[in-house]
Amino acid sequence: MFLRAFPARADRPNRTPTPMLDPSLVHTTLSRHQLADGFEIVVDLERSHGSWLRDAISGDEYLDAFTCFASWPLGYNHPKLGTDAFRRDILLAGSNNPSNSDLYSSLMAEFVASFATRVTPEGFPHHFWVAGGALAVENAMKVAFDWKARRLGRTDLMEDVNDLVILHFRQAFHGRSGYTLSVTNTLPDKVGLFPKFPWPRVHNPFIVFDDEGGIANDIEAEEARAREEIELAFRRHGRRIAAILLEPMQGEGGDNHFRTQFLRFLREIADRHEALLIFDEVQTGFFGSGRPWLWQHHGVRPDIVAFGKKTQVCGLYAGPRVDEVQDNVFRRPSRINSTWGGNLVDMVRCRHFIQVIHEDGLAAHIAGIGREVIDGLRCIARTSGGFVRSVRGLGSLIAFTLPSDQARRDVLHALAAARVLALPCGSSSVRFRLPLTMTSAEAQLLVDRTEAAVRSAKSGSAPRTVAVETATASD
Ligand SMILES: Cc1ncc(COP(=O)(O)O)c(C=O)c1O
Repeated sequence: MFLRAFPARADRPNRTPTPMLDPSLVHTTLSRHQLADGFEIVVDLERSHGSWLRDAISGDEYLDAFTCFASWPLGYNHPKLGTDAFRRDILLAGSNNPSNSDLYSSLMAEFVASFATRVTPEGFPHHFWVAGGALAVENAMKVAFDWKARRLGRTDLMEDVNDLVILHFRQAFHGRSGYTLSVTNTLPDKVGLFPKFPWPRVHNPFIVFDDEGGIANDIEAEEARAREEIELAFRRHGRRIAAILLEPMQGEGGDNHFRTQFLRFLREIADRHEALLIFDEVQTGFFGSGRPWLWQHHGVRPDIVAFGKKTQVCGLYAGPRVDEVQDNVFRRPSRINSTWGGNLVDMVRCRHFIQVIHEDGLAAHIAGIGREVIDGLRCIARTSGGFVRSVRGLGSLIAFTLPSDQARRDVLHALAAARVLALPCGSSSVRFRLPLTMTSAEAQLLVDRTEAAVRSAKSGSAPRTVAVETATASD
């Protein structure tokens, strides 16, 4: 009876689609009901294409070095997503929204198998899916807390384990949810006035690059300071540090790169003190660095990796160390969970992305494109009289530093006026987040427009107001 209430597909009325809201009304409509402080452009989802984001109001096309905060890997309307197979899967997933944690589907199983065998490196048998990067990191911390408590023999679920802590770094951005608020410390407007845990926070010894890509700062002294603070934290907190948490390249904090030696030290000290090593690859993962995961450039294996953004479905994968305790969260039901367990539409989209990335060799492609952009930016730096500094990056993740926040605003405004979308990071850096599909010609255009933007910012002729206020936007 119940099923009969839904007419079979052929019997359903074929309604004409309602026209979409006029783009010029988007901001006023949103502002009536919510804080609408985003970009002034409105994305034209039909006519944006590849690396070009089209403004539905003006019709202008912007070269996309922003990619929805590093979350949009294949550019707009990728032709391979126009297939019947993709449309069938996405429509099916979009028309139904199963609670994936408990109600399984073929679409879900296809996604999980594809991710686990083509994206997760060998040796990480556990996966967990959720919606949102902050919740991915938060659940990674929960895995570590549960593991550590049990390692300490504290297995009674009624026991107080409020003394367990997460060691983390200055200038870290891990999100804005409950636990992640306590480890995020980029800008006070993100974490101020919310209660937090006083967990140990230590120095982040990042590299400053010279114009040839060499190391320009005293990195050994930086690392020595970090090592000292970490040793002190372990002395102070003893066996209560459940995990060391790090973005293997800090994104919002300033595109801060670390040396392999330092990551090796973290691995070694985590092992020595029975803590887990968690890498937050929400911003850097899923082929953005030219490899599936940025940590693979260093060859330092973590115990848990949290991911999000480009993966669409967020979550974590974990290695065998969590199996050192019986009843860990991957065995015992309900310890980490959510109703949706990710989202089936995201799962379908991600599986098709994986297919395209492999078929088209996009990891190697973006590694090469990244090198072209970095070479171009280093040329600009060499002739800028110190205005552009510390050009750095891997694959789609590129940044450079300017003398001040105002200089950075001027460059971002000049870029927006030249129809390039880019992002700030740290106190005075500009960050590019490229689509993996960017062409060599587009990379050259990005370099040319950046050169012109730097010139106008340096001469004080950069526009101060533009349609796209990117200077304050952050993840
Ligand atoms: C490294 C990192 N971790 C976590 C997050 C939080 O992700 P979300 O905004 O999806 O919650 C971000 C977002 O920018 C991030 O860059």
